[in-house]
Amino acid sequence: MTIVPEPAPRIDLPWPTDGFSFGGDYNPEQWDRTVWREDIALMREAGVTLVTLGVFSWGLLEVEDGVFDFNWLDEVIGLLSEAGIAIDLATPTAAPPIWLHQEHPEILPVAHDGHKYWQGGRLGWCASSATWRFYSTRIVRELAARYGNNPAVRMWHVSNELGGGNRWCYCDESAAHFRRWLAERYTTVSALNLAWGTAFWGHHYTSFDQVLPPRDSESAPNPALVLDFERFSSDALLAHYVAERDVIREYSPNVPVTTNFMVTQNPGVVDYATWAKHVDFSANDHYVIGDDSLPENELAFSADRMRGFNPSRPWLLLEHSTSAVNWQPRNFSKAPGELIRHSLSHIARGSDGAMFFQWRASTAGAEQFHSAMVPHVGTRSKIWHDVCELGAILGKIAEVAGSIVEPARVAILFDDTSGWAWASGQKPDNTLRISEAARHFHRALWARGIVADVVPPDADLSSYDLVIIAGLYLVDSATADRVYERAEQGATVVVTYLSGIVDETNRVLRGGYPGAFRDMLGVFGEEFFVLGDNQSASLDTGWKVTRWSEKIWAMGSDVFASYADGVLAGSPAITRRSVGAGEAWYLSAHLDGEGLEAFVDELLLRTEIVPKSPPVVGVEVVRRLGRLGSYAFALNHTDHAVSVALAGWDLLHDMHTGNQITIPPGGVAVIREDSEKVGDLIL
Ligand code: GAL
Repeated sequence: MTIVPEPAPRIDLPWPTDGFSFGGDYNPEQWDRTVWREDIALMREAGVTLVTLGVFSWGLLEVEDGVFDFNWLDEVIGLLSEAGIAIDLATPTAAPPIWLHQEHPEILPVAHDGHKYWQGGRLGWCASSATWRFYSTRIVRELAARYGNNPAVRMWHVSNELGGGNRWCYCDESAAHFRRWLAERYTTVSALNLAWGTAFWGHHYTSFDQVLPPRDSESAPNPALVLDFERFSSDALLAHYVAERDVIREYSPNVPVTTNFMVTQNPGVVDYATWAKHVDFSANDHYVIGDDSLPENELAFSADRMRGFNPSRPWLLLEHSTSAVNWQPRNFSKAPGELIRHSLSHIARGSDGAMFFQWRASTAGAEQFHSAMVPHVGTRSKIWHDVCELGAILGKIAEVAGSIVEPARVAILFDDTSGWAWASGQKPDNTLRISEAARHFHRALWARGIVADVVPPDADLSSYDLVIIAGLYLVDSATADRVYERAEQGATVVVTYLSGIVDETNRVLRGGYPGAFRDMLGVFGEEFFVLGDNQSASLDTGWKVTRWSEKIWAMGSDVFASYADGVLAGSPAITRRSVGAGEAWYLSAHLDGEGLEAFVDELLLRTEIVPKSPPVVGVEVVRRLGRLGSYAFALNHTDHAVSVALAGWDLLHDMHTGNQITIPPGGVAVIREDSEKVGDLIL
């Protein structure tokens, strides 16, 4: 049984709004009707163009098993439609009603230690449950049949953050589904035994029927089993998405369908690159992490990942916050300017809109202290003022919608599956989060004004001059071949420690690390040398190494830098090899911030990749290209005014900039640049 069909995105469907999409999750069911009228008036005041409706309203739409009440939703849809506000209609399957959990507790997910979750949360369902599939697609069918041709419904939003609560289910029904998935993947049980290396501990299977999900046992699980269970879980949820989507398409064939991802700097709860092929356009929920050392860079990284799924198409920021969230250990309010700057940072990097969770702050329920577009205090507030200002800004820059982000010369490879492989089983350093290696490069490039696409391993690499593979632990042979080919064609490829260590079955590639790239790099990695918190080493370039180092040999490559001290003193640390018209570098160590920055400078110098606008500390300049030319977004993340050399039409102030523009502390400029005739060539 194929659980996920071939991708079938419909990329030619119209964008849900004219111009940028602006609005948020609208939960009118939490309020009485007098508030609804005020909501609509305020939405108009703020310039809201799109609202996400009905995300968690199943229990109020199907009040008992098979008893539906759409009256209130009809009324709200009528009000929004009269006001000309487009609707992103959500299927309410992220929150099953209490009656369903009472009638069918078997749909609740089971945790890895065997305990079953209870009613009362969100996403309380197992993706493999046939009962769940019946009830969930029934409510979706009711909604799609009723509203599928309603002209106000301009977009469909399947469920909510799938996997963000029900990522894994270890119940017996999931176990049976997992076995079917494995049988399809491996065909024979001996192929499975080989792939999983079950000779270890003598855990070989004589039938697929013996396989269980990686349920709790007192020692470390088989990493290959864990990885396949991750893949299966992502596919099982994707199959659910596809089931809902296909019901919607029956009734609403010309309206785009998507779902909100949670793409961040970390490996995803599902394999987002695969999911991105099944949605009509990609959408993301992004919340800045208060404890991050440079939140605006984490935001940029996540946005660059979203664009990386398809750099020539817009995506949509479907949720972010106007100020503090409520689910981090400490929830910081946004500083003046951040609401607008964060929204425009996503837009600069390819989002065709800025949507929030949520329209009006709840007074009750689990999210009563989460910020919203209309805060508890109402409209006499900084937040409301900024929301209205953002709405006005999006109107002023409407001509930018539909443009694409200037094609990047740098690609950073990122793969959720590889992140899962590193997290499976025991590793040389179980505290190391290697997916951060990609972010470290991104951050150094970001500080130098270089925009990179963060792309999945199967992306088309042909347009990139610099390809960075940092901490990409699992690499299949097709990816390794394509990277090699791109180097031969002339790109500079940089591979770091812990990349290409295991193949797609999570088995270590023998004969010298990093097995997947060894030939291209001309390197033979002999042994890993983990460094403790109080240990470091240095290179003969003066750069400092922390956390990770390796004993490597240069086999046909040139040594660019060697370890200068410690147990590896005298051994190569960084190598370079000519490959066809390009070259391949290997970085065997974790360089601390300054060392990595110096290494990135070296790479940029050699590849002659320079920012179009000279970098100003704390200021990002990102360009989008449209029919009328190039639009520069300049985002001042500092607390002082900065001057940036940009010449063109200042869309926010409707005036020419001269050759320089001064951006106030925390402010933003959007400039249609002079003498840029690139648009027609690109679009
Ligand atoms: C998102 C979720 C929203 C809301 C928000 C709070 O993850 O989709 O429904 O809970 O977080 O930040």
